[in-house]
Amino acid sequence: MYPSPRGIGLLDFTALWRNNPMSVAPFVPSPMDVVREMLKIAGVGPDDVVYDLGCGDGRVLFTAVQEFGAKRAVGYDLNKRFCDDIRKKAASLGLQDRIQAVNGNFFLADLSPATVITLYLTTSGNSKLRPKLERESRPGTRVVSHDFPIQGWTPSGEGNEGYYRFKSHRIYLYRIPEAYGLSSQVKDSSRSRLQRIRELFTHRRF
Ligand SMILES: C[S@@+](CC[C@H](N)C(=O)[O-])C[C@H]1O[C@@H](n2cnc3c(N)ncnc32)[C@H](O)[C@@H]1O
Repeated sequence: MYPSPRGIGLLDFTALWRNNPMSVAPFVPSPMDVVREMLKIAGVGPDDVVYDLGCGDGRVLFTAVQEFGAKRAVGYDLNKRFCDDIRKKAASLGLQDRIQAVNGNFFLADLSPATVITLYLTTSGNSKLRPKLERESRPGTRVVSHDFPIQGWTPSGEGNEGYYRFKSHRIYLYRIPEAYGLSSQVKDSSRSRLQRIRELFTHRRF
């Protein structure tokens, strides 16, 4: 159902990853049942705008819109062929207004429209992304990461472990801004100057 683009195998994608300084993860697709579990854990529904950072073949985007009824899904990937194929498939399904694939570096994306952000990167990739998530994600956004935690954040998973176990996979759910110690009542517009300065020194890495 989701074949690799013609003529490109997993080994080639790994080479692409190593050769591209912007890349923080190789292409390894999440199994479809893990994709569904991630979207279920995030509670994706008709009000949601789902961003998949490193969208690969677009399986998260199509599942979010077709099976979970998400309003919109946006994916970023460095691989042009993936993005071209996603656009073609979305158009063939009449979903071009709801599924968007951007061929570019997600570190340059504006994440503020997202209500759910999905990740399947690496622990170091997540650490690089963390300051951007803290800067741009709006309160109430859920961040779901397959297998790799966001170090320094607190997941709201089951039991003491903090993550959801699904078969041999781990799924980390983070709620913005509680994951990094702020109350969801604290909205940008209502934060005092003192609060903003305090957050700057508590949460930013220099
Ligand atoms: C492990 S795959 C995940 C694919 C998909 N999200 C899934 O769960 O099946 C990671 C993807 O991230 C992409 N990627 C890595 N760094 C990126 C970056 N800085 N900007 C955009 N895409 C990136 C890679 O090209 C690869 O397709």
